[in-house]
Amino acid sequence: MSVKGLASAARIAAAYGTGFSFIILTQVLIQLLRPDIVDKNMRPKDCSIIKMHKHYDFIIIGGGSAGAVVANRLSEISNWTVLLLEAGGDETLLSDVPLYMPALQLSPLDWKFKTEPSNTSCLGMNEGRCNWPRGKVLGGSSVLNAMIYIRGNAKDYDRWAALGNEGWSYREVLPYFKKSEDMRVDEYIDSPYHGTGGPLTIEEFAYTSPISKAFLAAGREMGYEAQDLNGAMQAGFMMTHGTLRQGLRCSTAKAFLRPAARRKNLHISMHSHVEKIIINNETKRAEGVVFRKNVGGIRTVYADKEVILSAGSVQSPQILMLSGVGPSDHLREMGIHPIVNMPAVGENLQDHVAMGGTAYLIESPAHMDNFGASFVLPKIMTMNTLLNFAVQSRGPLYALPEAEVMAFINTKYANHTEDWPDIQLFLASYADNTDGGLFGKKDNGLTDEYYAVMYEPNLYKDSYSVLPLLLRPKSRGRIRLKNANPHEHPLIYPNYFHHPDDIAVLIEGAKFGYALSKTRRMQQLSARINEIQIPGCRHLEFLSDEYWECAARHYTMTIYHPVGTCKMGPATDPDAVVDPRLRVYGTWNLRVVDASIMPFIVSGNTNAPAIMIAEKASDMIKEEWLPSSSNT
Ligand SMILES: Cc1cc2nc3c(=O)[nH]c(=O)nc-3n(C[C@H](O)[C@H](O)[C@H](O)COP(=O)(O)OP(=O)(O)OC[C@H]3O[C@@H](n4cnc5c(N)ncnc54)[C@H](O)[C@@H]3O)c2cc1C
Ligand SMILES: *[C@@H]1O[C@H](CO)[C@@H](O)[C@H](O)[C@H]1NC(C)=O
Ligand SMILES: *[C@@H]1O[C@H](CO)[C@@H](O)[C@H](O)[C@H]1NC(C)=O
Ligand SMILES: *[C@@H]1O[C@H](CO)[C@@H](O)[C@H](O)[C@H]1NC(C)=O
Ligand SMILES: *[C@@H]1O[C@H](CO)[C@@H](O)[C@H](O)[C@H]1NC(C)=O
Repeated sequence: MSVKGLASAARIAAAYGTGFSFIILTQVLIQLLRPDIVDKNMRPKDCSIIKMHKHYDFIIIGGGSAGAVVANRLSEISNWTVLLLEAGGDETLLSDVPLYMPALQLSPLDWKFKTEPSNTSCLGMNEGRCNWPRGKVLGGSSVLNAMIYIRGNAKDYDRWAALGNEGWSYREVLPYFKKSEDMRVDEYIDSPYHGTGGPLTIEEFAYTSPISKAFLAAGREMGYEAQDLNGAMQAGFMMTHGTLRQGLRCSTAKAFLRPAARRKNLHISMHSHVEKIIINNETKRAEGVVFRKNVGGIRTVYADKEVILSAGSVQSPQILMLSGVGPSDHLREMGIHPIVNMPAVGENLQDHVAMGGTAYLIESPAHMDNFGASFVLPKIMTMNTLLNFAVQSRGPLYALPEAEVMAFINTKYANHTEDWPDIQLFLASYADNTDGGLFGKKDNGLTDEYYAVMYEPNLYKDSYSVLPLLLRPKSRGRIRLKNANPHEHPLIYPNYFHHPDDIAVLIEGAKFGYALSKTRRMQQLSARINEIQIPGCRHLEFLSDEYWECAARHYTMTIYHPVGTCKMGPATDPDAVVDPRLRVYGTWNLRVVDASIMPFIVSGNTNAPAIMIAEKASDMIKEEWLPSSSNT
């Protein structure tokens, strides 16, 4: 490593001390002054092994975005018994604070997955591996996520239905989005696209930086109006809507589990890692679940009605394979007895891949409040900020710098007449140089050398960033077992950019971001791109298509939306793992309910769709098991 790289790493290590103290102090102040966050009486209680039954009607594996919804909806039926098994514990006090979103990655709330090494993507990262955070906590990835509330495009769901997935057209799923929702942004409360009174509260972020208004104006100059991106038309710009309650994170644990936690028929067992589903070799019926609680021994519980697998796109296929459902050859190689040969398990992996790291420097006009136009970490990490939060419930801790404004745009490859944008932009009022390497560098796994060369020269200078992401990638990856040990991470091959169209579209997204910096509005802030060239791309002409491609292959960034690994499809589809009612083919009494069932990734963030999938699945389960007179 170079001297520059070492010096940068040393400076960052020193800064961690300050950052860490700041975060600890926040925790202490919350404990003392914010009973609303502590929420002592409402939080779910852990069901001990002693109190646990031997049999339940339903056993749900994973209490994440989808699993928490299913646990709530099924336990509405008071004579059904429901067990929710979650590998993680409850949410923490800090996970409620929007600004701390990036601090949760690589913490104990994160499974800390990494992609397998690649030589065509993730090149700027240590070992050529990208980090893949996933929530290991009640609420799952909805506790780690950026809280952005986006549903995708109507055409996404119509395409699912056109494949033969009856019941999944936009017209049919819209009621389920609305069922969960409690829209609290005044101007949308009466919209036919939004619901009120559901458990999941939607708000705008309570603190925004001055530059967010400039983003909207610049969008207008580029021909995109500010409007509801979950409404009639998707192309446009919008102040980000979040799954928030009174400005704080509203995970599915807060929205769906806290109100259900006192029901006598719902047991929630935390720190309970499921090792396999017991599937009868003869009848192929899912009979129960084997799990390990804390460091205790192995336990078995039995399901009288169904086992519902909601472990997410990485672990639902892993658990199926550990249980003998998957590609037989692969299972035998791992020493697992195959019960149902299903080569499609773990295939069809899709993710929203982005080009990270592009910093645009700006000059803040003097009138742009005490912090400047963007989020420069040392200016925010003050005692004043902490007291503002703890005592007055306001200030920068209520912000989401990573995506103050959302946009959906059409590149030259999109069909402009049909409103099905191919690029989403996160307009971020910070950049890698403004956080001093504490978050972006660490979370993405950027090398010391890369950070030192690209960002140290502009350390803590006012900047913003535009992150283009590919909405409908054509590349397909896969999840495979590393071995038969259920406590080992599976192997993740995202195969980013394997299809050449993917890189072509992403390059156009990056060029749009650059053009945005040239608008009148952004030029009023003297916006200019960070002109330091990526070490591995210096042989290419700066800002040429080839340069942008090289940039994407270096600063490859997941937008954390893996889906598709337990694909839903009709019986005629050889690549389908579950049917349109989410029942696993070749088995009985076993469903997958989470983001992994998406046949095609939706054109937008995946949390709201995962919640919709769970709402719809819960209704299907009720339809099948309740006498029709008592249907709800
Ligand atoms: C950092 C980050 C930022 C994101 N930002 C956004 C955003 O702003 N907006 C958005 O819409 N989406 C966002 N997403 C994506 C979104 O949160 C996910 O798509 C969604 O949460 C997936 O829901 P799920 O139910 O499929 O899986 P998860 O929510 O991941 O739930 C899976 C659950 O299963 C548990 N589990 C797994 N294995 C086992 C086992 N063996 N035993 C017991 N339990 C197990 C896990 O601990 C977890 O709780 C983000 C995700 C991340 C990680
Ligand atoms: C639950 O209640 C319904 C009617 O409300 C009844 O039909 C059903 O048999 C009950 N199930 C059990 C397991 O008691
Ligand atoms: C890239 O990786 C692939 C598969 O891992 C390998 O076959 C190939 O030789 C590698 N190419 C280079 C240039 O290292
Ligand atoms: C499972 O069933 C298959 C055929 O249905 C049989 O060949 C196999 O031996 C059985 N394995 C076990 C472990 O019972
Ligand atoms: C673009 O979309 C419109 C509307 O759906 C459709 O009629 C047209 O055929 C599409 N054009 C191309 C080139 O696909």
